[in-house]
Amino acid sequence: MRYFIGNWKMFGVPKSINILNKINYFHSKDKNRQKYKVVITPPYTLIETYAKYFKNKKISIGSQNCYQKDQFSSNTAAVSPFMIKSVGAKYTLIGHSDNRSEGDTNEMLKNKVFFALKNNLKVVFCIGENKIQKKNKKTFNVLKKQLINVLDKKFNQNNIIVAYEPIWSIGTGKIPTKNELKETTIYIKQVLKNIFRKKSPAVLYGGSVDGSNVEMFKEIREIDGFLIGGASKTSKKFIDIIKNYYR
Ligand code: 13P
Repeated sequence: MRYFIGNWKMFGVPKSINILNKINYFHSKDKNRQKYKVVITPPYTLIETYAKYFKNKKISIGSQNCYQKDQFSSNTAAVSPFMIKSVGAKYTLIGHSDNRSEGDTNEMLKNKVFFALKNNLKVVFCIGENKIQKKNKKTFNVLKKQLINVLDKKFNQNNIIVAYEPIWSIGTGKIPTKNELKETTIYIKQVLKNIFRKKSPAVLYGGSVDGSNVEMFKEIREIDGFLIGGASKTSKKFIDIIKNYYR
């Protein structure tokens, strides 16, 4: 199974549902539709209406983050996995570099993953090195720490997906070379196998993915799909990625 996950970040108002409608229509007619899943993570404000609308359709809705506690608490502006699940979301991103840079620690991320799984959300756990770490050849080291400090072998690996998003590639148009990315993906899967003592969960790539560079990514069979930012905000760009992947 392949994944095409669109992360809208701070984008979208109620009528932006038209974008999802077009993607859903494309999916419903696509001869390859059994081979992949489409997930969109709109901002919190839109999850409930979108999840209701797409309840019996093939697009799944997720959140972009969640708070590190269960149920209810007295933390202003916090939204728990329980609350996210209760409005129909099926997935949540956790550990996006935007949130790590705003203070998410490994301990917080571990609690987020724990409570998200407890509430039956599928977790898309994001990892990635920054430009300096890459330059200093610390990529593998950084990724390994991000994985082993948060993911626990007791977690239900069937509900975990890992998204490798090099920070220097997010929103920049810069992407890793094919060899680099293949090696890194294999490395991530090896670390995950060691954590779970079984086969690795799916590993996605994210960072400047678009309809033209997806042709290169598809040659790396270890990559199980994509986490797409900018190109998920217009239906045409998002659909082009799927079309070109299966061409
Ligand atoms: P871009 O596709 O805009 O580079 O964003 C990637 C991303 O951060 C998805 O979570």
